[in-house]
Amino acid sequence: MIYPIVKYGNPVLEKPAEPVTEFGDDLKKLVEDMFESMYAARGVGLAAPQIGISKRLAVIDITFKEDPNARLVLANPEIIHKEGRHKQSEGCLSIPEFREELSRAKKVTVRAQDENGKWFEKTGEELLARAFLHETDHLNGKLYLSHLSALKRDLIKRKIRKLVKAGEWG
Ligand code: NI
Repeated sequence: MIYPIVKYGNPVLEKPAEPVTEFGDDLKKLVEDMFESMYAARGVGLAAPQIGISKRLAVIDITFKEDPNARLVLANPEIIHKEGRHKQSEGCLSIPEFREELSRAKKVTVRAQDENGKWFEKTGEELLARAFLHETDHLNGKLYLSHLSALKRDLIKRKIRKLVKAGEWG
């Protein structure tokens, strides 16, 4: 099932999500639906709050279907190590049409559970490191806008308010 993506302005995006506690068939179905919804929206990462489900669950595939082994499920993820800096353009499916250059850690290690509840650690660099940080932020109710300068953030928020008024948002 493809879920619609919740857009910026919906409070579910700005509240901390609840831990995943059940690792049964319902979770596996939700994970499959999240991959399907992410691919349909042409994204490389999706957090459950972005489909209106306030759970600490995210999916990532930075290869966008090229490599089935690149599919990652992060339940209850925690960032356990960060190093270096790397600047790259970043966007979010919940804030469509906007992208900003953003400096983030270059190398990041995440600790999380997979769809079976098994804990694992994974280290990523550059785009994968960025995805770990971006998706974990989502689960803490944080959007990439919060990492921008106040000036850039306000500019984007102003543009979004105009789109809302014009009925072209959400
Ligand atoms: Ni996002």
